[in-house]
Amino acid sequence: MRRILVIGAKGMLGRDLMGILLSSLPDDEVVGWDIEEIDIQKEGDTVFKIEKLRPDIVIHIAAYTDVDGCESDEGRAFAVNAEGTRYVALAVSRCQAKMVYLSTDYVFDGNKREPYLESDIPHPLNVYGRSKLQGERYVQELVKKALIIRTQWLYGRYGKNFVTAILQQAKEKGVLSIVNDQMGSPTYTTDLAKAISVLIQFDAQGIYHVANGDLCTWYTFGQAILELSGMDKVRVIPISSKELRRRATRPSYSVLNCQKLKKETGLALRPWSEALRDYLRTLNPN
Ligand SMILES: NC(=O)c1ccc[n+]([C@@H]2O[C@H](COP(=O)([O-])OP(=O)(O)OC[C@H]3O[C@@H](n4cnc5c(N)ncnc54)[C@H](OP(=O)(O)O)[C@@H]3O)[C@@H](O)[C@H]2O)c1
Repeated sequence: MRRILVIGAKGMLGRDLMGILLSSLPDDEVVGWDIEEIDIQKEGDTVFKIEKLRPDIVIHIAAYTDVDGCESDEGRAFAVNAEGTRYVALAVSRCQAKMVYLSTDYVFDGNKREPYLESDIPHPLNVYGRSKLQGERYVQELVKKALIIRTQWLYGRYGKNFVTAILQQAKEKGVLSIVNDQMGSPTYTTDLAKAISVLIQFDAQGIYHVANGDLCTWYTFGQAILELSGMDKVRVIPISSKELRRRATRPSYSVLNCQKLKKETGLALRPWSEALRDYLRTLNPN
């Protein structure tokens, strides 16, 4: 029996992942910690607690995920996403365990214009992306058995996300303005959690890109959300990122090429529109 520790177990992905691991790996012990159990900004405490638990695998998905917040608080972004990851990696290497680290499409600048491969050179445009990339580097430097999973545009049952924000705004206003110059693949946390479990079962190491299939802009994603929710009377206006004036610059194209996942495990995540349909059913089960 292996002991698997999930750090960030109460976040949007974490809650789904805990459920999937418990059901897909019944012979393993799965332990979930979040900030109440471990604050990864504290080096001594983090190393001590992980070493004491003696896990075989640590899945580190805790992060400061507010992309615009990272821009105004660079110190916190690096303290959590980079240094916090370093402390976790230090403990993992002392336990001679395996580490799984969740990273992001925002390590890329979007200039490529075709789906990004794991081997493409990262060049983040914002603080969040830079801090997560530094986290990747620490993991690669310190841990012998490391799996880095880059994903993107997450939504799921257990967190505020783009889908719930659009539905809320649609109830309040008759017209929505949504950005139409960023392309990516919205990814359902349930599908991602299943892929993480599969990658663990294959004992995968190195970098993997994991996202739902097909691509869209936030604008076309927003239209699909409204259409599938029977709210297609709400008008949607396409706008540019400049018009939205958010603190952090986002890549205009950050589609991830997930062929390596398919080639090595046989798994290809379904198209985002199918996953979205399923997710919306969980919001309105009748
Ligand atoms: N969301 C996306 O679109 C997206 C895209 C690409 C990659 N990712 C990556 O995927 C992973 C999961 O994302 P998510 O959206 O599920 O994130 P999330 O909902 O924000 O969950 C992150 C969890 O980490 C916890 N945390 C924050 N600071 C911590 C600290 N110092 N010590 C311990 N725990 C701490 C958070 O607690 P609090 O809530 O109390 O702060 C939260 O429970 C992250 O690594 C993220 O970078 C996410």
